[in-house]
This record gives sequence, C-alpha cells and structure tokens, in this order.
Amino acid sequence: MGMRKKKLCSIFIPPFTILVVLTCVFTFSSAAAANYSITYDRRSLIINGQRKLLISASIHYPRSVPAMWPGLVQLAKEGGVDVIETYVFWNGHELSPNNYYFGGRYDLVKFCKIVQQAGMYMILRIGPFVAAEWNFGGVPVWLHYVPGTVFRTDNEPFKYYMQKFMTYIVNLMKQEKLFASQGGPIILTQVENEYGYYEAAYGEGGKRYALWAARMANSQNTSVPWMMCQQFDVPDHVIDTCNSFYCDQFKPISPNTPKIWTENWPGWFKTFGSRDPHRPVEDVAYSVARFFQKGGSLHNYYMYHGGTNFGRTSGGPFITTSYDYDAPIDEYGLARLPKWGHLKDLHKAIKLCENVLLGSEPSLLSLGPLQEADVYEDMSGNCAAFISNMDDKNDKTVQFRNKSYYLPAWSVSILPDCKNVVFNTAKVAYQTSVVEMVPSNFTSSTLSPNRDLKGVTWEVYQEKAMIWGQADFTNNGFVDHINTTKDTTDYLWYTTSFLVDENEDCLRNGSSAMLLVESKGHALHAFVNEKLQATGTGNGTVSTFKFMSPIILKAGKNDIAILSMTVGLQNAGPFYDWVGAGPSSVKILGLKNGTLDLSRYTWAHKIGLQGEHLKIYQGDGLNSSNWVSTTEPPKEQPLTWYKIVVDSPPGNEPVGLDVIHMGKGLAWLNGEEIGRYWPRKSSKHEECVLYCNYRGKFSPNKCSTGCGEPTQRWYHIPRSWFKPSGNVLVIFEEKGGDPTQIRFFQRKISVVCAHVSEDHPSFDLNYFQKAGNENLTNKATVQLVCPMNARISAVKFASFGTPTGNCGSYAKGDCHDANSASFIEKVCLHRNDCVLEVGKGNFNTGLCPGRAKRLAVEVVCS
Ligand SMILES: *[C@@H]1O[C@H](CO)[C@@H](O)[C@H](O)[C@H]1NC(C)=O
Ligand SMILES: *[C@@H]1O[C@H](CO)[C@@H](O)[C@H](O)[C@H]1NC(C)=O
Ligand SMILES: *[C@@H]1O[C@H](CO)[C@@H](O)[C@H](O)[C@H]1NC(C)=O
Ligand SMILES: *[C@@H]1O[C@H](CO)[C@@H](O)[C@H](O)[C@H]1NC(C)=O
Ligand SMILES: *[C@@H]1O[C@H](CO)[C@@H](O)[C@H](O)[C@H]1NC(C)=O
Ligand SMILES: *[C@@H]1O[C@H](CO)[C@@H](O)[C@H](O)[C@H]1NC(C)=O
Repeated sequence: MGMRKKKLCSIFIPPFTILVVLTCVFTFSSAAAANYSITYDRRSLIINGQRKLLISASIHYPRSVPAMWPGLVQLAKEGGVDVIETYVFWNGHELSPNNYYFGGRYDLVKFCKIVQQAGMYMILRIGPFVAAEWNFGGVPVWLHYVPGTVFRTDNEPFKYYMQKFMTYIVNLMKQEKLFASQGGPIILTQVENEYGYYEAAYGEGGKRYALWAARMANSQNTSVPWMMCQQFDVPDHVIDTCNSFYCDQFKPISPNTPKIWTENWPGWFKTFGSRDPHRPVEDVAYSVARFFQKGGSLHNYYMYHGGTNFGRTSGGPFITTSYDYDAPIDEYGLARLPKWGHLKDLHKAIKLCENVLLGSEPSLLSLGPLQEADVYEDMSGNCAAFISNMDDKNDKTVQFRNKSYYLPAWSVSILPDCKNVVFNTAKVAYQTSVVEMVPSNFTSSTLSPNRDLKGVTWEVYQEKAMIWGQADFTNNGFVDHINTTKDTTDYLWYTTSFLVDENEDCLRNGSSAMLLVESKGHALHAFVNEKLQATGTGNGTVSTFKFMSPIILKAGKNDIAILSMTVGLQNAGPFYDWVGAGPSSVKILGLKNGTLDLSRYTWAHKIGLQGEHLKIYQGDGLNSSNWVSTTEPPKEQPLTWYKIVVDSPPGNEPVGLDVIHMGKGLAWLNGEEIGRYWPRKSSKHEECVLYCNYRGKFSPNKCSTGCGEPTQRWYHIPRSWFKPSGNVLVIFEEKGGDPTQIRFFQRKISVVCAHVSEDHPSFDLNYFQKAGNENLTNKATVQLVCPMNARISAVKFASFGTPTGNCGSYAKGDCHDANSASFIEKVCLHRNDCVLEVGKGNFNTGLCPGRAKRLAVEVVCS
C-alpha cells in the first residue's frame, strides 16, 4: 500500500520540487505509521503484540527552543535512544484560568510531531504537578490564590483544575492524533509525580487524592497505560516506576507490571552558590547495565538534555538558569563526550541481547563474593549474559562457562552470545572532547566592528533606590512577599523611615549603627538614604537568612528601602505551596536608646521595578524615552538597566553570555528572556575533585568541581534569537557591575582525546551484528572526530605503551613506542575524523613484552 503510493509519486510528479517529493514521503511514512496497541505484562511494554526493551531520554521542550528540537531529537536517536520523555509544564500553558498558551517554546504539539517524524516514541508525563526544579513545581501560581485551594491532596478546587488541565492536554493530543492507538508516538503517560514521598504528610486526604488521581487518569481513555513514579500504593491498572541513581533492586508492587525506571539521573542540577556536580559515565553505564541485567525493560535518562531555565522558569529557591545536569547532551546542544558515546555503545550492546532477554527467564550464577552472572537462554539456544563485579575497590578475574573474564571493579560486562564481551561499563573507548568557552568581542552594528564595549554607545535607565511613583499600599509590619507579588516579578520594595537624633554616637567617626535583618527568603538588598548598604541571601538548603551589617545614618529623617527578591519558587515538598518569602524583622542596633525595632512600623510596599512596569526590555519599551544614551555607562551602580546594540557573534557555535563582572540581575536579547544571572561563588572550603573515582555508589556531591568559583558564569543564548546585526541586549543589574566587561563566548570543541588498551574488549558492534556469534576477532579501535567544519590540525600527545594521566595531562610511561606520533599524524592530520586500530602493524606491539599496553592520543581540532 505504502510502496504503491511512493511509486505513484515518482512516476507522476518527477518535475516537481523537493517539497512535493517530501510530501509524498511523508504520506508514505504516515500511511506506514498505522494505529498500534500498547499493553504490558510482567516483563515489558508490549507494542503491537511484541515485548520491547526501550531506551528513553528526557528532553523538556521549554528548556530549549523550537529551532533546537529537531537536532536534539536526532542526536538522541543517534545515541541509541528509542523514546523521548517530557513533562508537560502547566504554568507555561494555562497562564490564567482558561487562558491557554502553546506558542514558541511551549509548542507541545510541534515537539511531539518532531519526535514522531524522527520515528521515535514518546512518554508524556502530564503530572500536572512535575517538581522538575521548575518554578512552583509546574503548577500555576494563580491556583494558589483560588480560595480554599491546597495543592496535591483531596481538595476540591485543586482536583477540579487538575482534572480540567489533564483533560485539556489529553484532548489536544487526541485531536492531533498523537496517541499510539491513533498512529501517534505516545506510548505511556504519567499522572502526579513522586507523590509517594509526601503522601503520608497529607494524611487520609493524601491517600484519597492518590487514588482519585489514578482513577481520573484512567478515565481519560487514552488507550495507553498510565504510570505513577515513586508511588508506593498504586491501584491496579497503573504502573509504579522507580526514580533513583540505581534501580536494579526495584520491584513493582504488582507481579503483573513491568520494571520501569523513569528517572536515572546522569548528573545533577545546580543551585546558585553551590558546586558543579558530575556523575562519571562508568557509573551511569553500570547502573543501566545492572537494571537490564536484573529484568528491567524501560529505562529513561533524566535528563538526556537538561537545557536552560529561561526567564524566571527555574524552580527554587536558587536553581540556576542552566539546567545542564551533566547530561549526555550538554545545555548548548552538543554531545558531551565520552558520556554520550559510551552510552550509545552501551545501548547497542543491550539491543543485541533484546530478543533473548525478553524471551527467557534469567538464571543467576554466583561467580564470587561480589560477582555474579545473569544468564538468559531461550528455547532455540540463544544465550546472553550480564556479568557484574559489584566490588567497589577490586578488579577481578572470574570463570564463566570455562572461560576467564577480567572485570574491573564496579563494572558489568555484556555478552550477547554468552561467550564474547562486547561491552564493559568501566572501559570507555569513546573519545573525550574538551569544550572551551572562547571569548568573542562584542561588535556593535552602529559602530565599527571589532571594538570593545568601551566607547560604544550604551543606553542606560536608572531605577530609584526606593519606591518609585505611588506606593501600592502601606501596612503595619511586613506582608508576605509571594502573597503580594503573586510571582508576577521577582521584586518587592518595602520602605519606611525613622528619625536619628543629632547627638547619636553613630554619627561620629569610628562608630556606626548596625542593621539587623531577618528574612524568610530568598535574597534582599538594603538601601539607606538611597545607598546600597547590605545584601543578604539564603542558600540552596535553607532559604531563610539573617544578617547584621554596619550602616551609615544621618541626623534627622532616614529612609530605609528593602528590595526583597524571590529566586525561583519552591518546586516540591509537603505543602510547598504555602512556603513564604520576604523580610520578617528589621532592627537598628547601636543607638543610645537601645535597639530600634522597625518591624511594626508602617511600611510602604511597591510590587516590581519601574523598568518592568514600562517593559523597557521588550517591544516598544526598547524605544522608550526613559533610555538615556551614554558612552560611559556607570559601573558598580546598583539598580541600573543597560542596553546595547550588538552584532551576532561570528560562526555557528552555540553562544554563552559572560557576566562574571556583573552582580545579579536579569538579561534579555531582542526581547527574549535569557534568564536570571548571578555569578555567585561556591565556598572554596567545600570538597571538590580533580579526577573522579567512578567506583562505588554515587551521590550528588561525590564528584563536584568548581569550589570557590561562580556556580554559573555563562548564560546560553540560542542562536535562533540572533539576527545578523542590530541585536538589542538588555541587562538589569541589581547590585552593581561593570557592563563594559560583558562578553559573548562561543562554545567550541578544541581538543579530542582517546585512551584505549590493546586488549580492549570492545568489538566493532556492527561487525558483531553482521557476523553473527561466531569467529569474532578482537579489534581494539578508536575513532577521533572533530566538530563539523574542523580538522585535526596537530597531534598534541601520542603514546602507545604505558602512558599515564588524563585528557589534557597525559604523560609518557617507561614503555613508549617512539613512532606513535608520526603514525597518528599520517592517519589523522588534516582530516575531520580518523579511525585508529590499536594492533600489530600500526604500533610496536612487541614492545615491553608481558605488559598491558595502551594508546593515549590528544589532538587539536581547528
Ligand atoms: C471513557 O470511556 C467510558 C466508557 O466508554 C466513557 O463512559 C467515558 O465518558 C469516557 N471518558 C472520556 C473522558 O472520554
Ligand atoms: C567446561 O569444562 C568441563 C571439563 O572440561 C566440561 O565438562 C564442561 O562441559 C564445560 N562446560 C561448558 C559450559 O563448556
Ligand atoms: C546553608 O545555610 C545553612 C544555615 O546557614 C547552613 O547550615 C548550610 O550548610 C548552608 N548550605 C550550603 C549548601 O551552603
Ligand atoms: C498568604 O496569605 C494567606 C491569606 O491571607 C495566608 O493564609 C497565608 O498564610 C499567607 N502566606 C504566607 C506565607 O504568609
Ligand atoms: C529615647 O526614648 C525616649 C522614650 O521612648 C524618647 O522620649 C526619646 O526621644 C528617645 N531618644 C532618642 C535619641 O531617640
Ligand atoms: C524602535 O526604533 C527604531 C528606530 O526608530 C525602529 O527601527 C524600530 O522598529 C523600533 N522598535 C520598536 C519595537 O518599536
């Protein structure tokens, strides 16, 4: 049927354009994408009657831009991924009750169709509570202000709006024919999210709510199964799934439910002021291999591409604008190597075992105190085995079916024929890429190119360091920050004044009054008489804070203005919707009469900044007469808006905005919201590692870097937001910084490395598939690839022998083949990529007999 259609096209419409041909191909493929059924049994999901092993990858559509979606999905597919998983972000879609938005980054249907066109499946986690380090856990802030609402419990308003949104999304997906039963990509859906952790805190109401959510979901008639992750009391017909760093020991409640891992965290998120966490790929691969070894059937990376919390979408408090997550695809959309590549090899190895894993029962074989094999053998004699060494310190050689196998500590070997190892989780053959942020001078289209920002025309708008215009209201004491802004802005002013007698000691030299502030969070700047005096902030674990700081007063009336800020609303936890923010106590110490408590004074309140009200960062606001031109933009000046017209950085590498010389604030390009910036440093006294020992159980702080450095220096600006010239960059700076030091950086792969041993067990997996199970030759090969448009321009290091160190710090060992570099230059120089076979003929394998030899290479791409 499909074939005939395709043929008709080529017979009757040859003179037409490519567009017509594409349409025909699409008709063909959509005819092929017939309706199919999704069921499950205790072993796996069953797609059209067939059990499946599935590799899934979380990519959240609003954390990148539509122009990036096809590339991200394609890179996931190349990485051996079958399924794209995303949450649905309620507060991005229902802006006020019944006011829906599906444009730009929130074009969910477009995202689903891109996945469909890539021939992949989808898992839709509708929630609609999602946590996800996303503002307010994804629930619209307006819902908190619908009278009587309590989130995530047996509460009528919450259930009413939740069901309404859930139904809206399901109907939208049905209308666009996106469910499997309609030929669409969606094979699985989720209701709620990790509710099991908090259910007890909600008592009986929590139990009733969880049951209600499951029933409500099932009544949607999507024809695909529903799941609830980390839900310890799921009712029948809903699949309970695991979220953790390891899920090999997970068992679903019902024996008729497959073992599904919804969140394997290949890294971790960051908070402003914290370190940069990394999870080594050897451990990620180990956890995945263990899961499939122990009967797992569907595995999802959370995140596979983390992306960016643009604008004010990050949750909190304090989640960074970057949501890179140390994921296999980095924030900017580049494959992170070797992580992406090693997992790709792993996925191939697992898929080689798919049929026998799904068609037989495993038998467990002990091979030592901490060594075991799970052997899957079916009726027709097909056999696959996973052999693991769970010892987190010692490598081990084990005997399996009369052969010996060397297993590095904390590793799994995969044997798709029960004889040959095609993959070991701890032996990374894939190349390492070194990514650099390379500065690119700003150029202004209105002035000559290649100039620093100095001398360039800026426009500046200065906020007053106190309430602007009329106060919104006054109050005796402080109102709650979030209750007042309802999250329409990060900012809320609180101002009052007090008298100081001219005889106060604190007005003389050598003495000063102190300001004592307590706040529920998240941060604040205190101004006295329009001068910034102090800044206070909570941190990633505790948002409340208290600080004391000297202040300069004058005789007579003193004005005190507190600019309180939220930095992303709470995104999880029991009753998280009730957590407040803002100052709770303000006192002046060191006066003759003792402490002056201002907490019960009459405070005037003003929501947001004047620049926000004027929208001077977007649209007509960019032409507002409030902007004042200058070639000398003020430095270290709080509460300043800066605007500059810039060219697009050259080339096509991804772009990051460097704000290391700025304090804290918000940034926009061409009216698009880049997000909150804050180069806040982590403590240098915390623990960081130079190299991470992958062996042993991972926890988020195990392998951190960046102690004493800004948590986030660069802020991703998608290429699609740039025009060739005439781009308007707007920065709002709260504390003071040097805007002339702001730069665009380009993210470039400058160096690639590989490190592989002579006896590496990694076979050419394609060869293995073609040749079947017999007569394999052990080919230790390694491929070096530079980015598109770049070539290998120099060999920085090459040694076959016993080299030591890591990419960037390799050193020759006592055993070294002197021809290593010249051989690699011959094969690789001036090429985009090359394949090196680590064997006889290419290297002097006779060197230092009896010792295990390796090849380490580092080449420059340019
Ligand atoms: C689902 O199907 C049942 C039974 O056919 C029907 O009663 C119910 O109204 C349907 N629900 C929706 C949301 O379409
Ligand atoms: C292992 O070797 C023993 C003794 O040579 C033999 O009896 C046995 O069948 C072999 N097992 C396998 C799985 O090849
Ligand atoms: C955050 O602050 C609290 C209280 O000051 C402190 O106990 C905690 O260790 C801090 N956490 C981090 C990550 O700095
Ligand atoms: C916000 O206002 C509501 C209604 O007045 C009140 O019940 C709640 O406690 C306030 N929240 C905070 C954090 O103060
Ligand atoms: C100190 O307090 C007393 C009584 O409350 C008041 O009359 C007086 O004016 C205060 N003095 C100063 C310097 O504020
Ligand atoms: C702002 O003014 C410039 C120059 O007059 C004009 O080209 C541009 O279209 C205006 N932009 C907006 C958003 O009004």
